[in-house]
Formats: sequence, C-alpha cells, structure tokens
Amino acid sequence: MNIDELVSQMTIKEKAALCIGGSAWCTTSVRRLGIPEIIMTDGPHGLRRVENVNESHNIASLKESIPATCFPTASALAASWDVELIKEVGETIGEECIAQDVDIILGPGNNMKRTPLCGRNFEYFSEDPYLGGDLSAAFINGVQSKGVGATLKHFIANNQEYKRNTMSSEVDERTLREIYLRTFEIAIKKSRPWAVMCSYNKLNGTYCSESYELLTQILREEWKFDGIVMSDWGAIHDRIKSLKAGVDLEMPGPKKNSFKQLMTAIRNGELDEEILSKTAKRILKTIVRRYKVKEDKRDFDVNIHHSIARKTASESMVLLKNERDILPIEKPELIAIIGKAAKNPKIQGGGSSLVTPTNVDIPYEEIKKIAEGSKILYEEGYTMEDELNQEMINRAKDVAKIAKIALLFIALPPNKEFESYDRDDMHLSKQQVELIKSVSSVQPNTVVILNNGSPISMKEWIDDVPGVLQAWLMGQGGGKAVADILFGRINPSGKIAETFPVKLSDNPAYINYPGENDRVIYGEGIFVGYRYYDKKQIDVQFPFGYGLSYTTFEYSNLKVSSSKFRDIDGLALTVDVTNTGKMAGKEIVQLYVMDRESKLARPIKELKRFAKVDLRPGETKTISFNLDMQDFAYYSPQHKSWVTENGEFDIMVGKSSREICLTNRVNLISTTEISCTLNYNSTIREWLEDERGREIIENLSKNIMNNKEFQQISKGANIDMWKAAQDTQLIFILKQMAWSLPLVPDMIMSRLLTQVHGRRNK
Ligand code: BGC
Repeated sequence: MNIDELVSQMTIKEKAALCIGGSAWCTTSVRRLGIPEIIMTDGPHGLRRVENVNESHNIASLKESIPATCFPTASALAASWDVELIKEVGETIGEECIAQDVDIILGPGNNMKRTPLCGRNFEYFSEDPYLGGDLSAAFINGVQSKGVGATLKHFIANNQEYKRNTMSSEVDERTLREIYLRTFEIAIKKSRPWAVMCSYNKLNGTYCSESYELLTQILREEWKFDGIVMSDWGAIHDRIKSLKAGVDLEMPGPKKNSFKQLMTAIRNGELDEEILSKTAKRILKTIVRRYKVKEDKRDFDVNIHHSIARKTASESMVLLKNERDILPIEKPELIAIIGKAAKNPKIQGGGSSLVTPTNVDIPYEEIKKIAEGSKILYEEGYTMEDELNQEMINRAKDVAKIAKIALLFIALPPNKEFESYDRDDMHLSKQQVELIKSVSSVQPNTVVILNNGSPISMKEWIDDVPGVLQAWLMGQGGGKAVADILFGRINPSGKIAETFPVKLSDNPAYINYPGENDRVIYGEGIFVGYRYYDKKQIDVQFPFGYGLSYTTFEYSNLKVSSSKFRDIDGLALTVDVTNTGKMAGKEIVQLYVMDRESKLARPIKELKRFAKVDLRPGETKTISFNLDMQDFAYYSPQHKSWVTENGEFDIMVGKSSREICLTNRVNLISTTEISCTLNYNSTIREWLEDERGREIIENLSKNIMNNKEFQQISKGANIDMWKAAQDTQLIFILKQMAWSLPLVPDMIMSRLLTQVHGRRNK
C-alpha cells in the first residue's frame, strides 16, 4: 500500500496519535493498519538503549542501558578531522542499532561552540560551521548507510545549557545564516538525515519548536529537507502551534493533553486536517524507509567495535606541547604514573548521551603492558572533591622525584561536563593545579594527559611542563590510545577543532553570556571562535586547527587554476605536503579564505576545506581542493541572499589557523546579481555603495562640489562637507539645493530611482 492510500485510511485520532510519541522512545503504532512503531535511542557517541523502550519518560530513563561501544565524544571526533573515520564510526553505530533493534539514533549534535562553558560542548563538534557541517554529514552518512536513521540536533542556537528551556537566543540574520544555520545546512545538504531535532530554546523570541520560518520555510522549502522534524524531549509547549510550524513528532509520549488539543483543534476548525495528514505522511515515509531495509537483529562483534573505538581515540588525541621531544617515551627504568584518571579514565560526559560501555581500556594497565621492563609507581594525586590534600601531593612528589618521567593524568570531575547545566569556569580543581605545579617542580620530565571534553585554563601551569596531550573524553578505547601515543606506537595526528583561549574573559561571548531576562544576545555576531580571536589579535592558549606530531611537515607549490576567475567557475587548487621528519605521520592540511575588501565586515580567515593526509618519511603528496562560489560569498541581510563581491581574496593553506604556510592572492569577478535597495530615504553613502547609484552620485557630486555657495560654506565652516554629507539622505541635499535645480527635488528623486532600479548590476 502506498503512503497516500495508507493516510487516507487513517482516522483523525490515528493521525493525531502518530504525531505524538507512544512512549519515551517509540512512535505510536497503528495496529489496525499494520503500522509499526519506530524505536529511537540516544546518541550521539554510542547507543543508550534501555531494555524497555515502551516505558514512559522520567529521570530514571538515564539509568543503565544495554552495553554498546562508547566512542570518543564529538569534540574528540572532530579533532581527528577525518571524514572517513567519522563515517566509519557512524557505520559501526549503525550496526549496533541493527543489533539492538534501534531504528533512529538521536545524533549527531552539531551546535556551534560559542562559549567554552556550555555543558554539552563535549557532544558538539566545533566552533566552525564548515567543519561541524562536514563532520556531521560524515557521521550521518555512516549511520544511514546501514539503513538506520540519524537525527541532526539541536536545531537551533542551543549553544548553552543555562536556562535552555526558556532562553531566547538573540541572533541577527547574517550571523544565523553564516554560522548557526550554515552548519546545519551543510550537514543536511551533504547527508540528507532522516530526522532533525528542534531545540528547547527560543530564537529571537519564538520557541524553535514553533517557528514556521525555521522548520518549514528554511529547513524544508529552502534546503529541501525531506525527513521528519521531531521535538527535543519536552520541547513542545503548544502542539497546534508546533504542528503548524512543522514539528512532525512530539517526543516523548504519550501526551494526553497534546492529543486532546489536536482533536479539539480539528473539530473546531483551528487546525486543517490536511496539515495533520501531511505530517502523518512524513512520519509514515520514515517508517517505510526503515522497514524497507530492516534486517533481523544481528549481533555485532564487540571486539572489532572496541578496536574501532581505540583507533578513533588515537586519531583524535592532540599533542599540545612537546618540548625537548619529551614524547614519545623511550622505555625508562622508572615511570611515575600520577592521577586518579590513570586508573579511572573519564570516557564520556554526563546526561542523555551516557553509554554503558562494552569494555574500557585503562591507561595505567595499557602503559604497564607497553612499558614492560620499566618499573611503575602509582599515586592517585587527587580526589574528585575540590579540596586541597597536601598529603596526596607530597606522596605524588615523592614518586615523581625518583622516576625518570612523570605521567600526570588529569580529569575534570564527572559532574563538570554534563547536559542541562553549564560549567561555572574553565578551571581544574585547586588540588589538580597544585599537583601539576608540585610534581613538575621536582620532575622536569612531566607530561600532563588531559581527560576532558572542552578547554580548560592552563595558564597557571603550562609553562612548567614540557609535554601536554589532550586525550579528551576518549571513549572506551582511549586508554590504549593514550599508551600507544605516549610510547610512540602511534604518531599523534589530531588538531583541535575549537580555540583554547588563555582565559575565559577572552571568549567572544563573555560579555553577553549567559544572558539576562531570558535573552542571550549573540553580540559577537559572526565573530565566533577563531573568527573573533584573529580579528581582535588576541593571544590564545592554542589556536583553532592546532596540534603537533612526532614528525614534521613542509608545504610547497600552492597553485591555483587561475589568478582571475568568475565566482561561478570556482577555483581549483593544489598544494604539496612533505613529511620532512623521521616517522610516518598524518597531517591535517587546512585551507582558509580571506576577503580582502568587502562592504560588510568579514573575518580575517575562514576555513573552507581540509584534508588529512598520511605520509611516510620523505614522502610528498599533492592535495587538491576545489572552491566554489559559496566559499567566497557572504550573506547579505539587505538582499536576503548570498553575494560575492568583485575583488581580491587570499587563499591560505596552513597547519593551523595561526600557522599559514602558503598564500596566493586571486581576483574574483562577481556574477551575483543583487537587487537595488536604494530608496527615497537612502543616504549618499548608500548610493555610493551601490554600483548603479555610484555613477549618478559621482556626477552629481561634481556639480555640488563646483557649486560656489557649497564651496564657501565648506571653507567657512572648516569642515569636509563631502564627508559630512555621506550620511545625509540624498533627498535632503536635493531639497537644500532646490533653488538651483531644474526640477523639484521629489521629481528628480523619482527619476533617479527609476534609473537605478531599471538597471542591472554589473
Ligand atoms: C536532549 C536530547 C536527547 C533527548 C532524549 C534531551 O534532553 O536534549 O539531546 O536526545 O533528551 O534523551
């Protein structure tokens, strides 16, 4: 039976019920018509499927779930910059969905990292829309290649947990289009997710779950999204408004009130049954999509999946500091391992994403295996309480002093990185800072291994230690990955996908975060993350895109297909990358674009492409990139479209956002046809900014400048009248000069406007 026929056979009650969950994790089945339920499960870095998916939703639903592979969380995955790997993670999770009879996974999360304090940053990829969009797409493509659906969440501007249910994110149109929407747009266009989850918060005063503009006009009509929109759990305030806006599925269910509301609205004509039918069709389409390919439950190979988690962790870790080539470690006689996290690693954050792992690698045990022959001394160093314990520090110092190297495992307490609230600060505990300082004061060969999901403040201790490895919330295979990297069995190749600021107050959102009176103003606009730090020339702890390797790379021969090109033709580029060191390794090559001159403020650079390349010592590979019109465009709120401008752009290729190796300047010829926005009240400046208007004003200005009276006033007042006139309306000037004009000012104005509006922009 096709979907139209099926819907035509459904009663209003059945359609209304289908648009509301049947339980905490399922849609409502319609037995009479053989419509099965679909099962949804969190996400994103592994499955959290509870045994009884038919139970109703309550806080206890955060309880133990069926064991599944726990992969590194999104901030770690992103640091791999490896689309193929993230796709493989998606495929692996897809296989586990099949094994656990899950139809749709509630991930990936792709909210931009606006402040390091957001309690869910560990679940999100990046501060850069292109990187976040591309990596989300890779994950979705992986999951969906197995015939299981993925859910891109949380749509949109849910960039903090503080007051997430009531807060309105106040974001201007350009910022939305270029940053917050853009990253979802990229992911949706590259991967066609089966579902999008709308967020809890409001956007510019309207709940995202009630925004027709967001959920229908932008998502479906502009971007051609053809899946279902589901609500975040409990994000519906008014089922009628949300249905009309475009939320197909309210979760969780059942919700008697919403059901009643729908029935009453249909009865009294407030809701057109056609809207309900369309919604039901979209949900049915998703059910059919799944059932067409649904296989019988099939077990997955726990060991193989564990080894994928290990590989992913090792590709994600970032070597932040390696002075005196302190790493990799040659097996010393005595190693001091200090820190609770060496034996109790933090593999993930808290909240709805919590996975019950199938297995967990313990760093301490893994190091012991690799460092066979070395003597190892262990000290816990700190508890998860934030109180100073000098005795623990003294014991740690004692073992560090007599060892050849100290490996210090530092993890944030588990309740610090958690869904539903933000961190208060970026600090480690006092004990941990004191511990690092004390250990490094007696042991110059101290390496800190950081076990956390978003940046922490390092300024108090970073200069005291020669080595730092960012190991992230590393998933169940992280313990082995850490050991492999420390001992050089794996060459680290991750780079951070977000800026690590020196201090919190440097962060662009600092002044406005967390907002007041239920509004948080995104005052930094498009200048999020490195876009801000670069523009303001602020020193950072570690820049976006940064990470070290045990080998070295050199870039050469950046070539562009043309130094002058039309935007619609795009640009092809190649660059050579050589491994100039002694160890095989992987380099993440980053391509940034800068618009050298523009009407609107633009970032110093923006990431547009990247590639991860594997090189043997001495080997060179040529990397190719293609840029298209979109890569040079900005969003013009005035014209409600993306536009390019004629002029020079710098194409920059580098190792990080702050280490550009090669730059080529190119000249873009714009073919964007933008409509003329000049009107009766436009200022001289606005006329000059419009190509059509400029010619007219330039001629007019000659007359004005040559006007004797004008010259006299200008001289007498000792001001640059022309400059002063820039922000005056043209009509005002015409009226001042009315006595010397051949026609009345309004008539002249009307002719000028006809002239400019009738002409195409060049
Ligand atoms: C979270 C979602 C999650 C859902 C179901 C919500 O609180 O924001 O990300 O998928 O719960 O657990």
